[in-house]
Amino acid sequence: MATAAAPQRDEPTAMPRHVAIIMDGNGRWAARRHLPRAAGHRAGVEAVRAVSRAARSMGLEALTLYAFSSENWRRPEDEVSGLMGLLKFFIRNDLAELVRENVRLRVIGDYRRFPGDVTALVDDALARTAANTGPILAIALNYGAHAELVAAAQRLARRAAAGELSPDSIDSAAIESELETRDLPPLDLMIRTSGEQRLSNFLLWQAAYAELLFVDTLWPDFGADELDAAIRAYGQRQRRYGGL
Ligand code: IPE
Ligand code: IPE
Ligand code: MG
Repeated sequence: MATAAAPQRDEPTAMPRHVAIIMDGNGRWAARRHLPRAAGHRAGVEAVRAVSRAARSMGLEALTLYAFSSENWRRPEDEVSGLMGLLKFFIRNDLAELVRENVRLRVIGDYRRFPGDVTALVDDALARTAANTGPILAIALNYGAHAELVAAAQRLARRAAAGELSPDSIDSAAIESELETRDLPPLDLMIRTSGEQRLSNFLLWQAAYAELLFVDTLWPDFGADELDAAIRAYGQRQRRYGGL
């Protein structure tokens, strides 16, 4: 459950509960090898597998991966359909492991805009992990923070218009309860690979007090060691939440 209040200063911060990653740099990884961009995305799937396994073995409660943004539709059609194909490949290959490992799969974003076969596969994967009780693997598919906040505002406005809710009672907790991350622990650490230093419309509300880490490693080269280094860097940060 998301919490509105910032954690108290004396809470241990060494181990993040929830890490989110902007998995960037697949195209550049491929270009450096004179390979097509699709090869970079394929290598990126291997990194997803390695990093989600590592996150589980480190005991992270939740890992959220940005796989397709609401802006990625701007890419050429063959790249977009290649990414959909890889999503299907990932689910077909990895679902059994996620079920076995008690992983709670979540999707954030409007994945219903994807083609029907992709949507059906995602729905099946969500259903088959729904009874699990272990770590959360959340995949952001056609996710955009602005769209998430717009949808939250619309739902609250509808309830207010129906007289179910007073506008004055809308507070941070009310907004958080409408976000797609409402079932996830508060975001502690946001990592972006590939050297870019921007959030690209990812988890903007949730990142308010997250620690940000930008690493030069391209996503296909990011693995267990890089995740471990990121978590150690997080442990060195002092989180103040506006206090002293
Ligand atoms: C990230 O790698 C993967 C997705 C956005 C799906 P990119 O495809 O953005 O790789 P670069 O940024 O072009 O290197
Ligand atoms: C962000 O990467 C989206 C994902 C990793 C899925 P992009 O490569 O799409 O971001 P920009 O365009 O460089 O901001
Ligand atoms: Mg990119």
